[in-house]
Amino acid sequence: MKPVIEIPAARLPAEGQRVLLRHEDKSVLLFNVAGTLHAIDDSCPHSGASLLAGKLQGSLLQCPAHGLRFDLARGCPHSATGLEVKRYGIERLGEVYAIDLS
Ligand code: FES
Repeated sequence: MKPVIEIPAARLPAEGQRVLLRHEDKSVLLFNVAGTLHAIDDSCPHSGASLLAGKLQGSLLQCPAHGLRFDLARGCPHSATGLEVKRYGIERLGEVYAIDLS
């Protein structure tokens, strides 16, 4: 059985907002960007800072530690460094959303 976080539709973040979810040793940020959900690891690939307090402009998330920006809508690459934030798939199952942590 693959590791999954389930979140009821009623607990989804509002547009432009985020929520921090925890499952065992993982911390996952769930963003609502213009109605589209994005789930990422709460760890910057540069040196591991939490992205929870990162500034969000459109779909660009800026790491609060050193300022690298990652595009949530384009798979979270940072164009200059090639670093990528780990992303997780999201599946809607009726009134519940399942985030696949595998
Ligand atoms: S830890 Fe995120 S930019 Fe350095």
